[in-house]
Amino acid sequence: MDYDQAKIRIVELRELLRENSRRYYVENAPTMSDFEFDGLMRELESLEKAHPDLVTSDSPTQQVGSDLHAPEADDVSVQKEFAQYPHRYPMLSLGNTYNIGEIEDFVNRAEKELGEVPFSYSCELKFDGTAISLTYRDGKLFRALTRGDGVVGDDVTANVRRIENVPESLKGSGWPLDFEIRGEILMPYASFDRLNKEREENEEPPFANPRNAASGSLKLLNPAEVARRDLWCTLYHIPAQSARFATHDEALTAAASWGLPISDKRKVVQDIHEIEAYIRYWDQERDSLPYATDGIVIKINELALHDALGVTAKSPRWAVAFKFRAQEAVTKLLSIDYQVGRTGAVTPVANLDPVQLSGTVVKRATLNNADQMALLDIRIGDYVKVIKGGEIIPKIIGVDLAKRTPEAEIPIFPTICPDCGTPLEREEDEAKWFCPNQDGCPTQIKGKLLHFLSRKAMNVLAGEATVDQMFNLGLVRTPADFYDLSEGQLLQLEGWKQRSAERFLQSLEVSRSVPFDRVLFALGIRFVGETTAKEIARHFGTIEAVASASLEQLLEVPDVGDVIAESVLEYFRDERHLDDIRRFKTAGLQFSIQTSAADSAALAGKTVVVSGTFQVSRDEIKRLVERHGGKNSSSVSGKTSFLLAGDKPGPEKMKKAAELGVRILSEAEFMNMLPGEPSAAGKKELNGLDLTLFG
Ligand code: IVH
Repeated sequence: MDYDQAKIRIVELRELLRENSRRYYVENAPTMSDFEFDGLMRELESLEKAHPDLVTSDSPTQQVGSDLHAPEADDVSVQKEFAQYPHRYPMLSLGNTYNIGEIEDFVNRAEKELGEVPFSYSCELKFDGTAISLTYRDGKLFRALTRGDGVVGDDVTANVRRIENVPESLKGSGWPLDFEIRGEILMPYASFDRLNKEREENEEPPFANPRNAASGSLKLLNPAEVARRDLWCTLYHIPAQSARFATHDEALTAAASWGLPISDKRKVVQDIHEIEAYIRYWDQERDSLPYATDGIVIKINELALHDALGVTAKSPRWAVAFKFRAQEAVTKLLSIDYQVGRTGAVTPVANLDPVQLSGTVVKRATLNNADQMALLDIRIGDYVKVIKGGEIIPKIIGVDLAKRTPEAEIPIFPTICPDCGTPLEREEDEAKWFCPNQDGCPTQIKGKLLHFLSRKAMNVLAGEATVDQMFNLGLVRTPADFYDLSEGQLLQLEGWKQRSAERFLQSLEVSRSVPFDRVLFALGIRFVGETTAKEIARHFGTIEAVASASLEQLLEVPDVGDVIAESVLEYFRDERHLDDIRRFKTAGLQFSIQTSAADSAALAGKTVVVSGTFQVSRDEIKRLVERHGGKNSSSVSGKTSFLLAGDKPGPEKMKKAAELGVRILSEAEFMNMLPGEPSAAGKKELNGLDLTLFG
């Protein structure tokens, strides 16, 4: 690969890795398996190694994945308002490999670097959950933080207090007065199955795996709901400076004596042979554990040596993870269904003889597309190899030809839509066959209706079964029909009572204030995902501007290329869609970007440093700065336009501002600069009034 090709591939890989990392850590809904993810990360690492000038500090190779809610993310079921606190010691991740040779390299390197000093290894399970850092003060649980971006984490203490095996108070003696201990929050398979069953009954999307379920649960708004989810904690790391012990193993043994949940599957070993035996043992035995593990962690046991070996940007040099390959199961292929999706893509889905795989029973698996079926040369009745990827539905990755019988039947990919009978089409460079009957094929219509209501679109409380019923009764054909539904019509739905109808109508009512970009996403324009919808909404401001945009104008939007632009044009060419939009408008949906009346450009070009406490929170003040066109900065420099000083501002910042001749403004002076904002003095009076009223 030449330099330019490498450059392009690096950009591509970073994009892919970032997107999946966000899906994994923030949305708890990954779209690729760990194995694929790690493979891409390795490819990026080796390209960056070959071209060091292309390394940037924001490359995924240099950062740990972040579970902090991205500011632009707007899903509503996950708590956004967690307080965030810095970790006392950064929370790193681990270097990992699927290759036993690299574990040997790790051991050789450690032995070489540590020279004559004798040392041992602690072998442990690698628990597949979500990382947590607990602080105990005076023997009481003080705080629980998620990994966040490794530097700052979300405060999930209230939720962690509801996890049964996390002690509120330590027992025994010898615990440090103030210390941190880290580990993993897991959802055992039994709780996971129960939760997903419940979610299906309530028409909520199931979680893809116990890891996503654990991390999603930890970020719930309601601690009582967390208690019901039956999470489980296991702790495996005390940052060395937190407590004084000679070895990691002693530290964990002491922690266990204080009542903390520490795994009893750990083993201290002396050499690579014992490490390999531990790996072999658990690769076989992990099926029998009640929770998910995805590998083995090997740590140098002597804590003094951790400092000697140090850390890289992302991970310590004193530990490494060996990851197990996804588990496989072999089972019989009973039949193939051809499923039509919302966009009309037809996906072959295999029905399997039920088989146990990574803790759950698998009955269905995807075959992706016709090419994949041909590549596998698959037959009905074959014995097939199944693995779990990142998504809910497992994949078929191979056929056991030795077990094929003469009766095995060659499957025939349909030439017409299994749902509406329209001949299927395939674009030149697409792997999938499509049903082109976009607005007439029942499955596609139902898919679009469901998409319209979904959480990231209009967020209306209804799932697949409800939409099916509404469609079958002829109550809805297009999303605009939802807004014409009457209570009487809703009561025709099986099992619906006054209360369910009211809830649905209330939820529709709330959807009228969903912002324009999400409405645009809800329309289900092909290739216009959440992010693209945001970009388009921001660029054009109103639906009229989007609908009348030319190809050239659409291409000016960041991230919009020919394919997306064509698809947008096509959408707005269709009279039926325009009719829907007219009806949505009558229903009161948002079709333009709302800017708050108070926003202005009063601080355009100004860089502001905010210090001290104010009548409103400091975050609120910083938002005001941005809403009026200014930029926040955390330190005073020659570029600072003014220092906004509340009560008790930082003395260093005040000193620096005075030295550099930077203006210092009070809260009242600042408020008076902003058109449309109540003055600070006015607020004080109001507060005073409140006090006299209630005092
Ligand atoms: S030690 C600085 N031990 O795996 C390293 N991590 O992929 C401290 N994990 O970030 C972590 N089981 O969230 C350690 N026995 C174990 C583990 C473990 C699971 C997680 C942890 C870590 C991630 C790296």
